[in-house]
Amino acid sequence: MSFDRSIKIAPSILSADFANFGAEIRAIEAQGADWVHVDVMDGHFVPNLTFGPPAVKAFRPHVKTVMDVHLMIAPVDPYIDAYAEAGADILTAHVEAGPHTHRTLQAIRAAGMKAGVALNPGTPAEAVEHLLDLTDLVCVMTVNPGFGGQKFLDMTAKIRALRAMIGDRPIHIEIDGGVDPVTAPFVTAAGADVLVAGSAVFRGGSVDNPAAYGENIRTIRDSAQSIGKVA
Ligand code: DX5
Ligand code: ZN
Repeated sequence: MSFDRSIKIAPSILSADFANFGAEIRAIEAQGADWVHVDVMDGHFVPNLTFGPPAVKAFRPHVKTVMDVHLMIAPVDPYIDAYAEAGADILTAHVEAGPHTHRTLQAIRAAGMKAGVALNPGTPAEAVEHLLDLTDLVCVMTVNPGFGGQKFLDMTAKIRALRAMIGDRPIHIEIDGGVDPVTAPFVTAAGADVLVAGSAVFRGGSVDNPAAYGENIRTIRDSAQSIGKVA
């Protein structure tokens, strides 16, 4: 994976048909998704459960772009090798998931993956300041993690603070939660380059009507690129 700050749309398969993940992944990629965002929830760190390493491994052959795995689980460390084995390209852990995020990020990189760190809405940018040299991606949650389809929370001040803190380092800023054509330009103007979108990508489409996914992805991307217009 090479680094660049172009805008990337990462559909979250949390909004896909859970009985048809392979076809859904192929459909969103064919319709222009840059990355595939995979939300892992444990019913403990967040009040919802999705899937674990065997399912993520089953997704892998369908993902031709980048498999971006967002862990909403605690603890993280016992499962890092399982997600490496499952084929995650990026593995993101929450800074709130345990006391030793520094160790977790080292272990993710040591297992051969890019290391991401996610921040809940109530967690300040400074929580990752001393982790940045171990980090390939900072995920700013713009909803409380656990469910798709929630209302966007304005975290633009936090995104700007992170962008300044990151400087020239090759670290992505990813936004997760409530991203749609209305909210996207605000987060890209603040410095984000990766936009996760679940409901805004999957709404109105299906594997039998994948053109709607393409239209949704294009609309988010066009809106996100219209940065100057909203500043
Ligand atoms: C929320 C997940 C998100 C979610 C986003 O806990 O981490 O990735 O799928 O869904 P939307 O775009 O519908 O807010
Ligand atoms: Zn997510």
